[in-house]
Amino acid sequence: MKTILCIGAGYVGGPTMAVIARRCPEYRVLVADIDAERIRAWQSDRLPIYEPGLEEVVRTCRGRNLFFTTDIAGSIAQAEIIFVSVNTPTKTYGEGAGKAADLQHWERTARQILEHSQADKIVVEKSTLPVRTAEAMERILRSGSAGVHFEVVSNPEFLAEGSAVRDLEEPDRVLIGGRDTESGRRAVAAIVELYAHWVPRERILTASIWSSELSKLAANAMLAQRISSINSLSALCERTEADVTEVARAIGMDRRIGPWFLNASVGFGGSCFKKDILNLVYLCEYYGLADVAAYWEQVVKMNEAQEDRFVRRMLGAMFNTVAGKRIAVLGLAFKADTGDTRESPALRVCRRLLEERAELAVTDPRALENARRELAGVAGSISFEADPYRAAAGAHALAVLTEWAEYERLDYGRIFADMVKPAFVFDGRNRLDHQRLHAIGFNVYPVGKRPLTHL
Ligand code: NAD
Ligand code: UGA
Repeated sequence: MKTILCIGAGYVGGPTMAVIARRCPEYRVLVADIDAERIRAWQSDRLPIYEPGLEEVVRTCRGRNLFFTTDIAGSIAQAEIIFVSVNTPTKTYGEGAGKAADLQHWERTARQILEHSQADKIVVEKSTLPVRTAEAMERILRSGSAGVHFEVVSNPEFLAEGSAVRDLEEPDRVLIGGRDTESGRRAVAAIVELYAHWVPRERILTASIWSSELSKLAANAMLAQRISSINSLSALCERTEADVTEVARAIGMDRRIGPWFLNASVGFGGSCFKKDILNLVYLCEYYGLADVAAYWEQVVKMNEAQEDRFVRRMLGAMFNTVAGKRIAVLGLAFKADTGDTRESPALRVCRRLLEERAELAVTDPRALENARRELAGVAGSISFEADPYRAAAGAHALAVLTEWAEYERLDYGRIFADMVKPAFVFDGRNRLDHQRLHAIGFNVYPVGKRPLTHL
């Protein structure tokens, strides 16, 4: 039985390895992490992350061919293939602070692999990394004296949170990059073989290792760029009485553009878009490509401007002051179907509203715990409510910041009755029935559309 190890049991490592274990029962799959609490949670009935369908996959495989452990050294020694899926956040210190990727976890992992390996191994870059990271990894891994050969392969992950299990089960493509040498080709073939257990061969792409590394940054940059593009147009819609949903439909029917990822919103969030674009910007600057760097940086700036514009619109509508007013924030997760609040636009909106001295009552079906941690220490009045009706009671306004389906089904008549009048709804996701809310009595402010008011 072959043993696969994944170092890093996070949003990527956990679900990815669970699906590999389910689809490849003849492999033993170990998932290791330095965070003992996280590993305990993976071993328990309360998984450390929420993903639809994940519990079932983990329950099927855990203890059969899927094991979670903190024994990194022992696991390295047993594994033939080692995926590395540790976090690669934006550097907060020194050269490149605020843009470059912080590769300290990656490098530490490489050194651990070197230290505890007695036999040849394939090391797979699963984390998102700057292009040419594999070169540095190879140098570290070749610095040993034990005569062990390591082949570094790039296999970036394209799953989105909230749909991770589905994305892993039916990926648009799997990308595997390797060196054009005999051992490089053999290593790529071994990883292709793994995915071929369930992914059709024509969806498994092989490429040079550098193309593979760069494709991951490029994919996230292109996706985020679409959102910033439609969001930039939403600002113009609000000034001209054009409707951004109608514009998105009209342009999306052009097959060269396509209808996906054109939902105007309060902004994009998540742990990766901003970090990966800034990483791309840093790389461009490093290679002397100032124009290219400035082009991509604007995608992030546009996103921040959209978040700030959302707050200014709230202020403007609410007679230029929210001081002392209760505002119910519906949704803190950066998108629906996840408890993840990393870089969530809701957090920036909350901080800005608190600066304006609003009194916030925040609610979310899955993300309250993470939000509580992220907002700890922020000055101002904030209460956390599991029940959206309680959050809304006595509020002047609702700010809908995550596209949870349950927010479309709330009894807005009941909510309106319990609110201070005039009552406002700011729909940061354009998912609610605006006409109906207006008919109930709300003053409705969607993104990129004319407001529906009674004032
Ligand atoms: P995460 O923070 O959820 O998980 C990373 C884990 O690595 C943590 O549990 C941490 O304790 C562990 N770790 C760090 N250093 C370690 C070490 N030396 N030994 C063992 N464990 C260590 O991060 P994530 O969201 O899973 O992202 C991981 C990588 O995948 C990042 O590079 C990210 O850009 C990329 N990615 C993320 C997503 C996503 O949706 N979250 C999607 C595609 C790619
Ligand atoms: C994104 C990519 O979609 C994945 O392919 C990639 O693997 C991942 O980043 C990563 O590298 O981490 P994720 O951030 O989990 O996945 O979620 P998305 O569905 O891409 O949404 C990102 C943000 O954009 C969310 O805040 C979402 O609400 C927002 N969004 C998305 C919009 O505002 N409008 C849209 O039309 C689509």
